Amino acid sequence: MIHEYRNYPLRAHNTLGIEAMASHFIEYDAVDDIRLLITQKHIQTPYLHIGGGSNLLFANNYNGTVLHSCIRGIEVTGETKDDVFLKAGAGVIWDEFVQYCVNHEWYGAENLSDIPGEVGASAVQNIGAYGVEAKDIITRVETISVNGVERVFSADECNFSYRHSVFKEPSLKGVFITYVHYKLSKIPVYKLDYGSIREELKKYSCFTLKNIRQAILDIRNVKLPDPKVLGNAGSFFMNPIVPKDIFHHLLTLYPAMPYYEVDAERVKIPAGWLIEQCGWKGKSLGNVRMYEKQALVLVNNGGASGAEVIALCEAVRNSVREKFNIEIKPEVKILT
Ligand code: EPU
Repeated sequence: MIHEYRNYPLRAHNTLGIEAMASHFIEYDAVDDIRLLITQKHIQTPYLHIGGGSNLLFANNYNGTVLHSCIRGIEVTGETKDDVFLKAGAGVIWDEFVQYCVNHEWYGAENLSDIPGEVGASAVQNIGAYGVEAKDIITRVETISVNGVERVFSADECNFSYRHSVFKEPSLKGVFITYVHYKLSKIPVYKLDYGSIREELKKYSCFTLKNIRQAILDIRNVKLPDPKVLGNAGSFFMNPIVPKDIFHHLLTLYPAMPYYEVDAERVKIPAGWLIEQCGWKGKSLGNVRMYEKQALVLVNNGGASGAEVIALCEAVRNSVREKFNIEIKPEVKILT
């Protein structure tokens, strides 16, 4: 089924809760629908395909077509003694997918519990948390392009890296994800060494998938605001990756600086720490603020405009540049 609207409010489609309108909005719930939309030329430039809107900032009204996939369904496509292969529609709510895997005792997705958004966007963004990224379980991605070309991308062809995939590259703007395929393990494999997971698990007598999911939910609950209550887009910025020489210089100045080794040449520095050091934690500018429990999260105090979000984003970037000589880049896609 295809649902088409004119002058459509986007507030429910961006977790920052910004009021913006799309001049044309289309939702579809099957691959045949998007094929029809393409052949009947309903998708005209400019167009924008969105997911759950958990990584989007509408700076203005969108004068064009906004598309949203409601392709749902999770299906087992194969199984071996050790693994299970799954296919999920791009419009499946990401956390429902995680919960489905946990309920079936399939391992690999649990650390990604409670991340807002949908299956399609999770592949675009290569979402990650607590030492796991979507790329660790994705095997291939089915797509259709605005020109009607259908193509399956292998995991290698997706070119995944930190919060990045080939689908973010401008040349693939017209490629829409229809289904994502995953491989989960039937044998227990846990990733518990990130942050406070082990500490959080001490309240349980044993490791089970459900306990791990609950531990992740509890950790996130303390630091990250619920977008239904307080508009936000999770981490607003990406953690910057810097060369080792710059890192060593910073560490002599700030010995308590947290960091993660990326490889032999590069180190990732938590942007939340940099932002806190600049004094922005809990501080408002206009109707937006950097969250008091996690400085990487920009929250809507209520009724914020896209321009206010951009003003705070730029003010924070300037502070970090001045104090540390580091460029932090938004993880959120800003549509101007
Ligand atoms: N920190 C501070 N002050 C802050 C926030 C963090 O000093 O206000 C320090 C913490 O003390 C810690 C370090 O920064 O030493 C890292 O903090 P945290 O574990 O909260 O993780 P993060 O690097 O800030 C990343 C992801 C999150 C993900 C967490 C957990 C990015 C941009 N963000 O945040 O992902 O949940 O790790 O794995 O990589 C998201 O992308 O939307 C998101 C929430």
